[in-house]
Amino acid sequence: MCVTSASGIEMKDLLTPDYYRYPWAALETVKILPRGGVLVIWPDGQQLECHPLWLRENAVGPDGIDPRSKENGLDVTDMDMSTTIGSASVDAGALVVEFVPEDRRASFHPGWLRHVADELHRPFALLPEPKPWVVADLQEPPTHNGSSVLDDDRALTAWLHDLLEIGVARLTGLPCEREIVGLVGARIGALRDSNFGLTWHVSVDLDPNSTANTNSRLPAHSDLPTRETPPGFQLLHCLENDVTGGQSTMTDGLAVGQYLQTAEPDVFRWLTTLEWTFFNRDSNHDHRWTGPIIDKGDGRIPWTFRAFHPVRGFPAMASDALDDAYYSLRRFGDIANSDEFQIRYDLEPGDLIAFDNRRILHGREAFESREGIRQLRGTYLDTDEVYSRMRVLCRTLNMRPESLGFTHSKEAEDD
Ligand code: OGA
Ligand code: ZN
Repeated sequence: MCVTSASGIEMKDLLTPDYYRYPWAALETVKILPRGGVLVIWPDGQQLECHPLWLRENAVGPDGIDPRSKENGLDVTDMDMSTTIGSASVDAGALVVEFVPEDRRASFHPGWLRHVADELHRPFALLPEPKPWVVADLQEPPTHNGSSVLDDDRALTAWLHDLLEIGVARLTGLPCEREIVGLVGARIGALRDSNFGLTWHVSVDLDPNSTANTNSRLPAHSDLPTRETPPGFQLLHCLENDVTGGQSTMTDGLAVGQYLQTAEPDVFRWLTTLEWTFFNRDSNHDHRWTGPIIDKGDGRIPWTFRAFHPVRGFPAMASDALDDAYYSLRRFGDIANSDEFQIRYDLEPGDLIAFDNRRILHGREAFESREGIRQLRGTYLDTDEVYSRMRVLCRTLNMRPESLGFTHSKEAEDD
């Protein structure tokens, strides 16, 4: 859009303190507030109150936002704390202010201001909203074409959309090669290392350092509850699978938590408040962390489920709470592994299943290991990596999650 200001400046070239291209959401008016800030108002009535010091540090240019790094170059200890707004006007829809006593003029892109007013700068604003599910809603993981995701950003966006909304999304038709899980992970971001390595195997080991590397059943669980922040996402790629048994399972922890919150509030309270110490040991490592089974965090982040009996070591609660703690664990396990909450599907060679390790409880049935081979390769990514990739994909493809219109049905496979 070409807008020329009263002073003849092409306003479309107005820089913003970030990498987004904002629609030109022209302001209607601006008022100077008695407290020294400004109130900007759009024609539809939306408003934003701007503190003078916040505006000052977000002014693009010297001693403000550095146009190269797009980061704030003004340290608060160098800031004139008496800064206020001497004059404010709307010029071709943009906000123009004069900072006093500095005598500095700055213009602000109205689309950038509008995204703040609309709260699109908040961490979860540009991400699909999680949709809790039970078996009646979802019988199989949403499925996408693996080679398309490796090559094409729209396909990657569709897969990540389902992964963030449903918490689990599958790729099919990938080559059965060891390095593929790392390549798919790298499409998203940096892989998260652990004592199992950057990528790791899941197979029956003669000398296993994890229950995963046996042929035992793994009930609905999350990996590495032994860490302060368990890995956000997990990718498991099936290289070989000709054993009898070993079906994969997924349960939406969010749905289990929401169910318990209303149907069994005591159980929910015990699960969210009574803490356990988890441990993960081998000859070279000693990881420990203490937390509740359902960690509601500070209310700003999604709940984290800490559930894996092989690494749940010690109660970290008063001894008279233990009966309640064990009862609540039992209820949690019964529900998470029930036919109403847990989906069951075959993991075929070439499939890759990705899931939110802090929300979704994954598992597998026991299998017969003497007459075949079951070999997976896995990796972890921090939640931040998945969130960041999704935001950047939407930015570069010029999409908003709610406008993506991706389905989580089989049809998504043909995208
Ligand atoms: C794991 C795990 C699932 C499987 O390695 O943590 O849960 O299907 N594996 O083997
Ligand atoms: Zn696991």
